[in-house]
Amino acid sequence: MRTLATVILALAAAGGALAQQAWAWDDGTTPFVVSPPEVVDRMLHLAAPKKGERLIDLGSGDGRIVIEAAKRFGAPGLGVDIDPKLVELARENARRAGVEALAKFEVRDLFETDLRGARVVTMYLLPEVNRQLLPRLFEQLQPGARVVSHDYDMGPDWVFDEMMELKVAEKLVGPTGRSRIFLWVMPANARGTWVSDIPGHGGKWTFTIAQHYQVIEAEATVPAGGMAVRGTRLRGEEIRLAVVGTLNGKPWNHLFRGIVSGARIDGELRLSDGEHSRTLPWTANRQ
Ligand SMILES: C[S@@+](CC[C@H](N)C(=O)[O-])C[C@H]1O[C@@H](n2cnc3c(N)ncnc32)[C@H](O)[C@@H]1O
Repeated sequence: MRTLATVILALAAAGGALAQQAWAWDDGTTPFVVSPPEVVDRMLHLAAPKKGERLIDLGSGDGRIVIEAAKRFGAPGLGVDIDPKLVELARENARRAGVEALAKFEVRDLFETDLRGARVVTMYLLPEVNRQLLPRLFEQLQPGARVVSHDYDMGPDWVFDEMMELKVAEKLVGPTGRSRIFLWVMPANARGTWVSDIPGHGGKWTFTIAQHYQVIEAEATVPAGGMAVRGTRLRGEEIRLAVVGTLNGKPWNHLFRGIVSGARIDGELRLSDGEHSRTLPWTANRQ
């Protein structure tokens, strides 16, 4: 028979030893433990499902995340759980909440769940399960989809976009007395060499972008010389590049902002010389 084992992991942290608790059934699978209501509230707040956007909760337990997303955001959701009794309970809870048309539940292994079409994926699973899921998230989710996890991240390779921590008195498993909530936004593919024509302001701009998940490094050049890229951001399909440099004898700040769609970026360039600013359309094509 499976028992709930509490494993104390001693994690050496820089500057001192940090003890953290983790939990699992003896066979290493994730047991049923609920996310407290305030955690569900913050998870949905971070994921911000728009009306009609599909949400999937992997390991849905009593269905609370899917039900709350349906009630508050009108999000059509699917919860999958390996335990048929929990799926039955979740369906009953959805009926009681009056959202059974939006909040669906199925007995299914989360590793066999089709994630295509989901705009939000939520989870409260063990850290190693998150890591095993990572390739599947990248295979099946589109840029801009949000992944939200209670308590555990995706390992050191895929850093989160946002994280919040809150005190939760009733939290007796995992990090006791507090919860952490992580958000990742699936990044578009922005890597490569991109070219833009900006007549009267540098002419042919070339951007060279390297990418690791959503973290990008960029270089920008114009025929007259190099420009300095001071800031970058890729969040889903939206890319931002802050570039400074001298053109026509004047120092300029450039904020490029656009949507990456396949081999094209469409957006705008905000130009400022410290006294005046103006906005131009910006298009870039991948070489
Ligand atoms: C920690 S509970 C989270 C419940 C709910 N998502 C919440 O946050 O309140 C994890 C759930 O995952 C389910 N689970 C564990 N392994 C699973 C698997 N391989 N496929 C589907 N569900 C699984 C468990 O039955 C349990 O209900």
